[in-house]
Amino acid sequence: MRLVVTGGAGFIGSNFVRYMLGRHDDVEIVNLDKLTYAGNLENLRDVEDDPRYTFVRGDICDAALVGETLRGADAVVNFAAETHVDRSISGPQDFISTDVLGTHTLLEAVRQLEIPRYLQISTDEVYGSIDEGAFTEESDLDPSSPYSASKAGADLLVLAYHRTFGTPVLITRSSNNYGPYQYPEKIVPLFITNAIDDRHLPVYGDGLNVRDWLYVEDNCAGIDLVLREGVPGEVYNIGGGNEVQNLTITHRILELLGKGDELIRYVADRPGHDRRYALDCSKLRALGWRPDVPFDAGLTRTVQWYVENPEWWRPIKSGEWRSYYARQYGELA
Ligand code: NAD
Ligand code: TYD
Repeated sequence: MRLVVTGGAGFIGSNFVRYMLGRHDDVEIVNLDKLTYAGNLENLRDVEDDPRYTFVRGDICDAALVGETLRGADAVVNFAAETHVDRSISGPQDFISTDVLGTHTLLEAVRQLEIPRYLQISTDEVYGSIDEGAFTEESDLDPSSPYSASKAGADLLVLAYHRTFGTPVLITRSSNNYGPYQYPEKIVPLFITNAIDDRHLPVYGDGLNVRDWLYVEDNCAGIDLVLREGVPGEVYNIGGGNEVQNLTITHRILELLGKGDELIRYVADRPGHDRRYALDCSKLRALGWRPDVPFDAGLTRTVQWYVENPEWWRPIKSGEWRSYYARQYGELA
């Protein structure tokens, strides 16, 4: 299978590239990535010499390059996106460009080149917040942030291409991922690396917001399955089944690192902060998928990885990251 992965130098994309090369001998992967602040070729250092892997630096909004890169592909998996909610609040423009227009550029190329399969990587955040119960794939889209609204816009375009042009699309909507190689702006890697350095952990609001945590390899397994066995035109939820409050994660990270609660700082809440996400994943489970990694084991493994790989995250937490952190967290920085 000749696979084009976009955004493969980011967190989930790089884990997916490694996952696919490790499990399928017959796969060839082209990774198209712009290398924004979140893209990092260090994430794929261990596979860069694999003859089945090629890297192309470029923007998914560049129609000519996208056309050239996708020609002859058997499938496209689109991970490329701006992904951080807080950045979408301070500056939504890049989210609309990449997440909406970039997706459209890919869809047009897939349609014109008659690529047999297109998988859009989406998020549970498109459904908005839910106080009780869980979202199914039929639930209405009700996004809260510019990030989730851009992802929802992309999902609607993807589904419209199926309905209008018969483009063979699939969508996965996963819950919050965690694991190795996640950029230290999201809560898990930010809090782990801050705690290692005895820096404060900024908890938004009352810290009681709930996310459903999914170990990144479990997401990769779900994506692989949908890519191979999903029905074109269909959406598949991928959730970890681990609903945890932010404060519980915070305490657990401190405990795993042998640090005290005095590092916790309550800071102003995120505007439009979704209270709870929860997914009904029976559709994907019916295809045989289930998450393998329980939250506590996954978090322990993840903390261990950041402890053992400071040469990966220390260079990141300088430069661009430092100015972002100062802008976002003010005096705490
Ligand atoms: P990430 O921010 O770590 O990586 C994004 C990657 O996309 C980077 O390598 C970046 O360089 C690349 N990119 C950005 N703009 C681009 C452009 N215009 N052209 C080409 N490449 C570009 O993101 P992630 O956390 O790995 O998320 C991957 C996908 O999964 C995203 O679509 C995101 O919406 C979705 N998702 C993420 C989570 C999560 O918990 N991280 C949960 C659900 C869904
Ligand atoms: P995040 O990792 O940004 O993922 P998402 O917003 O896409 O779910 O945030 C996860 C939760 O952690 C969310 O409820 C916001 C909260 N949070 C904090 O309390 N402090 C922080 O510094 C960050 C980044 C997030």
